[in-house]
Amino acid sequence: MKEKLATRVRQLKPSATLAINAKAKALKAKGIDIINLSAGEPDFDTPEHIKEAGIRAIRKGFTRYTPVAGIPELREAVAAQIKNDYGLTYTPEEVVISCGAKQALFNLAQALFEAGDEVFILAPYWVSYPPMIELTGAKPVIIPSSKENHFEPPLEEVEKALSPRTKGIILNSPSNPTGQIYSRDFLKGLAEICRKKSLFIISDDIYDKLRFDGRGPENILTVAPDLKEQTVMVNGVSKTYAMTGWRIGWAVGPKEIIAAVSRLQGQSTSNANSIAQVAALEALKGPQDCVAEMREVFKRRAELLYEKILKIPGLELPKPQGTFYAFVDFSAYYGKRTPAGNVVENSLGMCDYLLEEARVATVPGIAFGDDNCLRISFANADEEIEKGVLRISEALTKLG
Ligand SMILES: Cc1ncc(COP(=O)(O)O)c(C=O)c1O
Repeated sequence: MKEKLATRVRQLKPSATLAINAKAKALKAKGIDIINLSAGEPDFDTPEHIKEAGIRAIRKGFTRYTPVAGIPELREAVAAQIKNDYGLTYTPEEVVISCGAKQALFNLAQALFEAGDEVFILAPYWVSYPPMIELTGAKPVIIPSSKENHFEPPLEEVEKALSPRTKGIILNSPSNPTGQIYSRDFLKGLAEICRKKSLFIISDDIYDKLRFDGRGPENILTVAPDLKEQTVMVNGVSKTYAMTGWRIGWAVGPKEIIAAVSRLQGQSTSNANSIAQVAALEALKGPQDCVAEMREVFKRRAELLYEKILKIPGLELPKPQGTFYAFVDFSAYYGKRTPAGNVVENSLGMCDYLLEEARVATVPGIAFGDDNCLRISFANADEEIEKGVLRISEALTKLG
């Protein structure tokens, strides 16, 4: 049977982050005391006023198809938010609402890239970028970075990777998995390259309101607004408003690209869920205190996790500047033996060891293109974070 399936799905790997989260949840459901530090979503409930808007939409019977690209009010609200956050003007026709930022990214890749194209992905990267690019027939070109260069690949390396086939680049800052924010200088350097080579830029801004430095959202258009015609911004309500299950995201960019994304959507999923669109509208237009409150909690937990991890000999990490992830270098422990006699060789081995020995779920860095690190999520209660780190530290002392 398997060999009868289309090549594109035979080669497709399941999302490592979703798989680990599912494994941890399954162990927990069996009654095993797992501390899940692998989650890629806020641990908060969707704020009450947003839930109420969804309930009202159901009661009012707002339960039918909507326009493929989304209800006009939401497209307008997204354009207004972009104006407010980035100072850039877009019309509602330059906004498409999708089933999560993930679908917006998927559709964009389909709309922009094809066989023969090369697309730059800066590592460590969000797990879904490479498969999304591969599914278009294009080739992902991975540009590595490390904590030594603050997870910003040297611009010379980016230049060196250019070829006549380079067609685009995907950026994500604040970054999943590193929790780091690209500096303005780095973005300016990238902008220069993108301008010179007329590259399409996909700016995945899904964590743009979850930054801890008190500054507002920033992306490549903040330092190079002249690149508006070759850039598409992607965002959504999942992370900012604790609405991962509602599945609302969007893409904002040049009208022709947005129209192409809408055409694709019209032949695949049609519109995003009508009720969730109304809830997302309330999220954008209603009170925003919930965003600041959640951000403050994440900021505090980032400090907590950072301080605790730093105390463990051999572990290294840059202080998270945003998101709810820390990207921790465990490589000092690679090559050591577990009490059962197995050698921990890499990030997968370390993740497995921590799940079995410490009962703590984390995500192997290899899923993000960096085998030295594990991603540890702090979208979890303080006590769980403290207990989790303690367990990790105890498990590491058993390696010899
Ligand atoms: C970097 C990044 N982009 C996009 C997404 C997708 O978000 P959504 O829930 O809106 O599909 C995620 C979710 O994990 C993410 O981390």
